[in-house]
Amino acid sequence: MNRRSFVQWAGLSWVMSVVLAACRQSASNTDAETGTDTSAAPGASGLVEVGAVSELDQGAIQAEIEGRQVIVIRDPNQPDQLIALDAVCPHAGCAVDWQAESEMFVCPCHNSQFAASGDVTQGPATSGLEPLTAQIEGDAVLVQVS
Ligand code: FES
Repeated sequence: MNRRSFVQWAGLSWVMSVVLAACRQSASNTDAETGTDTSAAPGASGLVEVGAVSELDQGAIQAEIEGRQVIVIRDPNQPDQLIALDAVCPHAGCAVDWQAESEMFVCPCHNSQFAASGDVTQGPATSGLEPLTAQIEGDAVLVQVS
């Protein structure tokens, strides 16, 4: 391979890597079934709509805001209040699930358990889930991550 061929090959490889990276980013934010964008970005207020109030009545709302996994539930002790948490388990980074029957968050990776407040109740995680601010506006559930 001469110098000119090498430069052309290197340039083409760089262009292809940029195109593939852009495609991967786009695909990771798209729901496989609906094709809708699942990654939200905050507006000027910093609040992001993550779902509808009706979804809370069916369990939890799980969403991604700028690459951050969040989970929102109704407070089991005060159903008119919301609890929003960073859904990433502090042990090794898996996303927790809400178990409505037992009123706890459970990590599917190593079974850490967290109270509805996000406080850790069973390890191996040694710290709780980070609380976030959430509110309802009309039929929309909004979360602020920063
Ligand atoms: Fe959650 Fe290990 S990642 S318990």
